[in-house]
Amino acid sequence: SDLTFLAISGSLRRSSHNTGLLRAMQSLAPDGVTIDLYSGLGTLPFFDQRLEGGPEPAAVANLRRHVREADGVIIATPEYNSAIPGVLMNALDWLSRPTGRHALRHKPVAVLGASPSQFGTARGQLVLRQILHRIETPVVAHPEVTVFQSHRRFDADGAFSGDPVTESLLRALLAELVVLTQRHSPARTA
Ligand code: FNR
Repeated sequence: SDLTFLAISGSLRRSSHNTGLLRAMQSLAPDGVTIDLYSGLGTLPFFDQRLEGGPEPAAVANLRRHVREADGVIIATPEYNSAIPGVLMNALDWLSRPTGRHALRHKPVAVLGASPSQFGTARGQLVLRQILHRIETPVVAHPEVTVFQSHRRFDADGAFSGDPVTESLLRALLAELVVLTQRHSPARTA
């Protein structure tokens, strides 16, 4: 049956390589897989526990609904100071609530990232995996898609120039997310 994945870029930058990576993934998606790009990360208020008592901010409710309705989530993250950007952490803090029955609990996730360095967000992705593990979110184990030397692969508008190795990794990651989604589907039969 058809699957819909929500793609979240950890970068607000207009020509973001990570957003470009998600756009490339959209165009490589096989039949039956739709990838919707979430663009509201910058509209989320800073998480404040005091806000949990009152009506939920509209931007937060919107993100939660998108995550709940998706069969899985794809997170492409920059690496900031060997970790993840604050805007992405902020979104994860919102999404991790309420503990134990939040929108990302048992929601299959694929992570990837692009950076101009030689390591292609490897350290940042480890941080992201650790956070997702803590909130009971299953994550595709491999392939690990660390797009290094991203400045050679994306143009000034952030569009991916398309190299065969990266494209096959993107396809493989998507295929593994489909497998993980089927494993976590309540409707599975075997
Ligand atoms: C970076 N960058 C970076 N790169 C990296 O490989 N390891 C790192 O630890 C960091 N740290 C870091 C901190 C901060 C505050 C900034 C602004 C940048 C560089 C980063 O990978 C580069 O700017 C990417 O292009 C950001 O991703 P987007 O916006 O292109 O998706």
